[in-house]
Amino acid sequence: MKIAVFVSGRGSNLNALLNLPDLKKLVSIVAVVSDKIDCKAFDIAKEYRIETFSIGEGEGRVSKYEITSVLKNLDVNFIVLAGYLKLIPDELLKNFENRIINIHPALLPSFGGKGMYGMNVHKAVFNSSAKVSGASVHFVDNTYDTGKIIAQKCVDISDVKSAEEIAERVLTIEHQILPEVVKAFAENRVKIESNRVVILK
Ligand code: GRF
Repeated sequence: MKIAVFVSGRGSNLNALLNLPDLKKLVSIVAVVSDKIDCKAFDIAKEYRIETFSIGEGEGRVSKYEITSVLKNLDVNFIVLAGYLKLIPDELLKNFENRIINIHPALLPSFGGKGMYGMNVHKAVFNSSAKVSGASVHFVDNTYDTGKIIAQKCVDISDVKSAEEIAERVLTIEHQILPEVVKAFAENRVKIESNRVVILK
């Protein structure tokens, strides 16, 4: 399975995908895409000699109208959003129906939606006095964090003293759950049954 990973930040989830041994024989990451002209995740991509694309207007960038054909020309058939902070263009959604997933650092549908990214999420969780948090992997549609949930994993936060501690614990979970879900797609074990998604063992 040839995948494109969309990023906006440091790329720790990209790194987790690149470093899961079981994934290497099933998945090849052929493109790393960002809305940024440069980001730490691009440094990781370059280390692995993976092509990087920056969506936007101007020199050296790919417009949101061109990105679909760029990815199709690379035979990409699956897209992973890993920290990507923009909405996905409709044309990309149409061309990759049920083939775009996102990792969100909370237990959706709680603590999701516009503006809920990075530390905003963990601060909201901390202030809510919740005793568990976790990560969610879901299908991407045309609004933030509302696609069908594919997988979730909880983490106990009953003893945390700060939002930063929640972020740390949730990130560990993200690095486990995202590669597991990508592997399940590569092995064709993800089934959509009405409004629920099942991952076959
Ligand atoms: C992760 O917390 C992810 O859940 C969220 O953005 C962050 C990306 O982190 N969507 P990284 O760039 O993968 O380290």
